[in-house]
This record gives sequence, structure tokens and C-alpha cells, in this order.
Amino acid sequence: MTIKPILIVPDRRLTQTSQPVSAFDASLTALIDDLRDTLIDCDNGIGLAAPQIGVLLRVFALRIGPDEQEVSPPTIFINPAITHHDEQTETAQEGCLSIPDTFIDITRPQSIQLSYTDEHNQPQSCSARGLFARCLQHENDHLNGVLLLHRLSPLKRRLAVRKVQKSLKPKKNGRPSPK
Ligand code: NI
Repeated sequence: MTIKPILIVPDRRLTQTSQPVSAFDASLTALIDDLRDTLIDCDNGIGLAAPQIGVLLRVFALRIGPDEQEVSPPTIFINPAITHHDEQTETAQEGCLSIPDTFIDITRPQSIQLSYTDEHNQPQSCSARGLFARCLQHENDHLNGVLLLHRLSPLKRRLAVRKVQKSLKPKKNGRPSPK
């Protein structure tokens, strides 16, 4: 069991485009284990994408299913592609493990169709709506180097990054901020 450190903005790896998975080998199995272990270790995390642990491959793990209930172990999505999205949009607050203590209103299509490969190298597709669709789109954005911050104006983005950096600074007694 390996819990990996989660990269925090403004780490440059978070804004790069991840590469498709081409080999279902031992290194992919290790990545899947690391994603699951790291996500399970985060009390407030619903999803985690490989670039967030520094691996620029198109893989993410999600802890909720279509019925918005928790799934255990988290589901793995490899080489996902959104094949259809609803015209109708919905706005809701989103957070991200790579942008601590920050919540941003994001407008997204209400429902999508997603094709992907599962961890057994089988092609899959699913229809998603509501929170499940929102999480799939959030994690898929990570694979394209797109963060919640990219939806803000440059000024608001700089302020948000500064706030995150400030909250991560160690306190005077040397212990990291509990936030
Ligand atoms: Ni995120």
C-alpha cells in the first residue's frame, strides 16, 4: 500500500496533458493501486487523477458510482473519452485535492456519455448525470491539464494560488497548518 503525496498548485505537472495508456503491465497495476490507496487516504476526496500524483497518464479513480453512493474500492477509468454531452448545464461548487480549501462555482453539462477502458483492459461505456457526471468531467479535465483555476480570470486565479500557498506555509512552531 503506497500513499503518494498529492501535487498542489502551482506544480507544473498539473497543467500538462497526460498521455494515453498503451500497455496493461505491472507499472499500470502499481499506478492503479497507488491511486486507490492515495484516494482512500483522503477523507474528503471523491476522485483522483494520475497527474495529481505526478504520473502523466490518462487514468483516474472515482469513489462514487452512478447512484452517487460510495463505491469501494474506487472505480478505475483508463483512457476515458466523453462521447456525448447534454446541452443542458448545471452550476455547482467544486473543490479539488490539488487546490486545498478552495471551492469554485463551475458550470458543466448535466449529463454525459463516457467511454473508457477498465482495469481488466475491457472497453466500457456509461451514461452519467448529476454528481457522477460532474466528477467524471472534473477528473477528465485533469488529464488535459485543466484545473478549476483555469475557469477564473487571471487575477482571481493568482489570488487563489496565493491563498493556497499561504495556507500551506508552516506555522511558527514548525508544524504545518491543520487546514
Ligand atoms: Ni481535482
